[in-house]
Amino acid sequence: MLLDLAGRRRVLFFGGKGGVGKTSVAAAVGLAQARAGRKVLLVSTDPAHNLGHLWQRTIGPEVVGLADQLDGVEIDPEATTDEHLSAVRETLYSVMPQHLRGEVDRYLNLSRQSPGTHEAAVLERIAGVLQTGLPSYDLIVFDTAPSGHTSRLMALPEIMASWTEGLLRNRRRSEKLGAAVRGLTRDTNRSGLVEDTPHDPLVERDLRIRRILLARRERFEALRDTLRDEALTSFVVVLTAERLPVLESVELHGHLRAAGVHVGQLVVNRRSPADAGEFLMQRRELEEQFMEMLSGKLPGIPVTELPLLPGELVGADAVGRFADMMG
Ligand SMILES: Nc1ncnc2c1ncn2[C@@H]1O[C@H](COP(=O)(O)OP(=O)(O)O)[C@@H](O)[C@H]1O
Ligand SMILES: [Mg+2]
Repeated sequence: MLLDLAGRRRVLFFGGKGGVGKTSVAAAVGLAQARAGRKVLLVSTDPAHNLGHLWQRTIGPEVVGLADQLDGVEIDPEATTDEHLSAVRETLYSVMPQHLRGEVDRYLNLSRQSPGTHEAAVLERIAGVLQTGLPSYDLIVFDTAPSGHTSRLMALPEIMASWTEGLLRNRRRSEKLGAAVRGLTRDTNRSGLVEDTPHDPLVERDLRIRRILLARRERFEALRDTLRDEALTSFVVVLTAERLPVLESVELHGHLRAAGVHVGQLVVNRRSPADAGEFLMQRRELEEQFMEMLSGKLPGIPVTELPLLPGELVGADAVGRFADMMG
């Protein structure tokens, strides 16, 4: 069932509470799809970086081959934030008068610490990965950070698009004001030499700022449209059959729906076996209560159950065996 969903989408996000199996399930689904003949890119946006640990190799910001038809890349929020802020610095330098560079640096140093900056940087990278990846991959699988981060991330394109819209509106207002002021000076000095032509550095600067803001708004709008396009994108919530993961999944589902993101599947990982002794039997019965709680709170979303495995899930072979269980 999970593979049916994956087979009909181009973009999949895996999210859920920390430690429930997001990375393992995302990798196994990616591998299963690659085996089915699709070209797949696996992307980790979790600072915990366990994609590399799972495949037992170093995976960084450059795409590496993990298996036939399967590539992987890790987005490091810290490094991404640095890159993002230096790109912003370059942009601001190019549009601000030279003597304000100190102000720009002060502002950016504060920005680094402020809430939302990491998410905005990661979001830019996600937008970039989708933009460059969709033409060359059949499927892009995102293994996301634990729930809180991810639900904020999914709501962000909308917020960023309207924030940029607000800035554009302010600029329109200040452009009018600027034009009026220039009109006034022209009137008062009566020289007739000050022309409002495109060579006016102020007009040129305004045009440049508008272009940057417009490009940014378009990028976020495109990302928002991709995230909300049910035919293209689906979100898979991974959990275990325990109280807190169930409650956290219900909350995550609410946030995703509010952001307009389609939740296509719930994956309940690490289900205890019913035929392996009294102890695990009792655990399984307890899990049944939480399975009921889940279907009561989130009715109508298909559920896939995956078994608790006896061994440690690391290395390509283990991912391969897990992929065999995806069904
Ligand atoms: N079905 C399973 N059976 C046994 N161990 C599992 C199973 N799924 C995941 N694990 C193990 O649980 C730990 C957390 O899994 P991981 O995929 O890293 O979770 P997350 O990405 O949600 O933090 C890892 O050590 C992984 O090997
Ligand atoms: Mg993980």
